[in-house]
Amino acid sequence: MNTINEGIKHDKFKVKSILDKKWLDHEIQFVLNKIDENLDIFREKVPPAASKNLIYIPEGNTDWTASFWIGMLYLAYEYTNDEKYLDVINVQLESFKHRLKDNIGMETHDIGFLYSLSCVAGFQVLGDRTARETAIKAADKLIIRYHEKAKILQAWGDLSDPEQRGRMIIDCNMNLPLLYFASKETGDPKYYDIALNHAEQAAKYIVREDSSTFHTFYMDTVTGEPLYGRTAQGYSDQSCWARGQAWGVYGFALSYVHTGDKKFLDIAEKLAIYFLNRLPEDDICYWDLDFTEGNEERDSSAASIMACGLLEISKHLPVSNEYRELYENAAVKMIKSLAENYTTKNVNSNGILLHAVYSKPGDNGVDECCIWGDYYYFEALIRTAKSWRMYW
Ligand code: GLY
Repeated sequence: MNTINEGIKHDKFKVKSILDKKWLDHEIQFVLNKIDENLDIFREKVPPAASKNLIYIPEGNTDWTASFWIGMLYLAYEYTNDEKYLDVINVQLESFKHRLKDNIGMETHDIGFLYSLSCVAGFQVLGDRTARETAIKAADKLIIRYHEKAKILQAWGDLSDPEQRGRMIIDCNMNLPLLYFASKETGDPKYYDIALNHAEQAAKYIVREDSSTFHTFYMDTVTGEPLYGRTAQGYSDQSCWARGQAWGVYGFALSYVHTGDKKFLDIAEKLAIYFLNRLPEDDICYWDLDFTEGNEERDSSAASIMACGLLEISKHLPVSNEYRELYENAAVKMIKSLAENYTTKNVNSNGILLHAVYSKPGDNGVDECCIWGDYYYFEALIRTAKSWRMYW
């Protein structure tokens, strides 16, 4: 296990960052207005992963990102109690039930993202029993991707594809809560055990000695031995892809929440410190943490995920922990920076956060709105506004 090797460098995070209630209400209202403007066009369809020229063009429920829209609708409904959101939520929820039944776009570990935000949330927020059953069936589908010997869930593609076989990725930590949920609901420990084993392997092999992370890591599925790290969306195999690090922070914190194993909270903290130490002046990361200045693009979506992760971590630290408030301050500073300079206020766009990067190496969604960035920005605002029960 890696050891912590750097403290937090920036003194600015020690300064209490105040969130004015009126300011926050105004910012939440901005997001709600955007959602309201989109309610009709994304009733049956969903926003794609990334905008084109800042416009999300409606598409069917086929990609790994399809659930972020319904996730935002649940947040909006919980915050306002306005039934207008329920109408679209129900249409979307049906579409997720059908997607699973029809096996559309299921060769991915992102079944976790898809069914936590649609069906786990549907059960939690609305008490929808069919959503609960669907979430459990989705967990059954997800565990097919488990390699017994390597003790990991394969991220992408067909299980026999030599390009993808035995490849785990840091993002997957966010998919594990679906499995924790399934064990809790059914009483069957198999889902929990798989999630725990995967989180342990990610901690061992994806997290590097210096608390940065590989984006992806290959395991030998026959011997169970570790092979090598490779990037997919980062700058290089040895660099630290910013969004991956943010997925790691939030994802390991979630494995702590669901297992109670303190080691995962410690790892989330170490990853967070690595991230915080590589922020530019305005606290919004570049798309890869190897960049700390210059003309490379920022990734506002990584910042919004990170703000949620930091707020989650700080919830679980004792008052005596010297970093507890610091994480909160950093999260608030990021939220404010996003609100002030990264939103689509006065811009022609149906998205919410500007300046996200989907994949720089793939030249896909660079300096655009990304739907998960919008979702996590809203989640971060809601987290600071009310006591909120996670869908994860
Ligand atoms: N989970 C895929 C991505 O963050 O781009």
